[in-house]
Amino acid sequence: MNNITIAIDGYSSTGKSTISKQLAKALGYIYVDTGAMYRAVTLFAMQNDVLADTQNLIGLLPEIELKFVYNDDLGYAEMYLNGKNVEKEIRSLEVSRQVSKVAAIKAVRKKLVDLQQAMGKEKGIVMDGRDIGTVVFPDAELKIFMTASPETRAARRYKELLDKGEKVLYADVLKNVQERDYIDSHREVSPLRKAKDAIEFDNSDMGLKEQLERIHNYALRIIEKS
Ligand code: DC
Repeated sequence: MNNITIAIDGYSSTGKSTISKQLAKALGYIYVDTGAMYRAVTLFAMQNDVLADTQNLIGLLPEIELKFVYNDDLGYAEMYLNGKNVEKEIRSLEVSRQVSKVAAIKAVRKKLVDLQQAMGKEKGIVMDGRDIGTVVFPDAELKIFMTASPETRAARRYKELLDKGEKVLYADVLKNVQERDYIDSHREVSPLRKAKDAIEFDNSDMGLKEQLERIHNYALRIIEKS
């Protein structure tokens, strides 16, 4: 039995990170949330006032240090940007509104894909994102492509933001989900699309327990054969 690479891609707010986190825990694998990396670069661009200035942002990329630091109490890794825990800030609606633009910049993707490939060199990893099965790890042994209706996803995100104390309107969250779907799947560099060999997984009407059970079983079957 060998460690494998698991790529979980799909639209925003399909519950990819919740499932990936639990799957990694069940398998004793590392979990990497690549969305957090794009969000951290976006936060950096906002803080340095270069959101609208792509060339300047590209020039500043070498100054961005991203690190995941495991939090024992939470049971997962948190995102650090240049030594500072930014886990809360990167999940704000403001960052969500801007992140697709930053994720469409070729030089940003190159920097982050290089980092992601280095993190997965030893396998034994569950990575979630948009291009993991297509670009980052095209040879991943298990690829899942998660989908759910925009309304289901917006309702999930809305609840998440309310729980965190953010004051938002459902209509704005739905609009943000639809806009991000459009930008993510129409951008020139690494658009969101299902890898040919990925399993399409619609979880609109599926609870967390059932999702985890099914995906865990897919993984175990592959691991047994590896
Ligand atoms: O998964 P998320 O919603 O936290 O991702 C934030 C944004 O980052 C999303 O709009 C798409 C982008 N992203 C990407 O382009 N490629 C990835 N591998 C992960 C995220």
